[in-house]
Amino acid sequence: MSSASTLLLEVEGLGVSYGALVALDAVDWHVGAGEILGIIGPNGAGKSSCYDAVTNLTPRRGRVRLANEDVTAVAPDRLATRGLKRAFQQNAFFHDLSVAENMLTVLQDRYGTGLLATIMTPWREAARRQEARVSGRDLLLRFGIPEELHDLRPTNIPYGSQRMLSIALAYGSGAKVLMLDEPAAGLGGADMAKLIALLRELKAEGLGLVVIEHHMDLIMAVADRIVVLDQGKRLATGTPREIQADARVLEAYLGRAE
Ligand SMILES: Nc1ncnc2c1ncn2[C@@H]1O[C@H](COP(=O)(O)OP(=O)(O)O)[C@@H](O)[C@H]1O
Ligand SMILES: [Mg+2]
Repeated sequence: MSSASTLLLEVEGLGVSYGALVALDAVDWHVGAGEILGIIGPNGAGKSSCYDAVTNLTPRRGRVRLANEDVTAVAPDRLATRGLKRAFQQNAFFHDLSVAENMLTVLQDRYGTGLLATIMTPWREAARRQEARVSGRDLLLRFGIPEELHDLRPTNIPYGSQRMLSIALAYGSGAKVLMLDEPAAGLGGADMAKLIALLRELKAEGLGLVVIEHHMDLIMAVADRIVVLDQGKRLATGTPREIQADARVLEAYLGRAE
């Protein structure tokens, strides 16, 4: 269990409705610094809706605290500025930009300057741009995307690297909490091993990670704790070992495995 001082993200009573459908109902969880929280559950359980709710992308009930501050009413882009970052289930790139340029777009908040500064101090602007390029390249390398891919369009790089790019773009100029939605979707064994190594590295750096994932072997290998969602409700929570031994969890999966 994390102590109060290391808690990074706490959600309480989170609920989402789409018309008459209650997609998420009074869900609680938290993640601390240097911790990986797994969120699992059958298709349609409400996992992605849970992320939309946390990041204020959809009307919802409940409260969200980030680094001990109530951020329930904070807008999505401001949440990102405060260090709550999220990658989506589908890859989302600027298709006409190179991998490196995609990276630069998310570093804007750190290296971007206004038009006035560009006109008044062009030399400083040029230095800043160079700094951003170096920082972007280092980030891409750190997220396992080799240099020979940096000038290609995202859709022209191997699928495994596209998934890593999604995570790198979400992380951007840094994060306190990183929320990933099925990062391993479609990945083969070697890419899966790279992803596991990256998640462990980010955890070691003190990030709080929340990972929605279908691949049980991945989530059982990396998660410190797991929340199981089923039909919008929190069905169970515990360590991977506890979850694997939980009869209700097995039933939620196997009961609908036709
Ligand atoms: N934008 C939406 N409008 C209406 N229904 C939605 C919307 N998004 C998700 N749903 C429904 O809400 C439920 C939960 O979906 P989702 O959160 O995507 O589940 P998961 O990510 O666990 O597969 C499903 O029944 C899904 O069909
Ligand atoms: Mg989903």
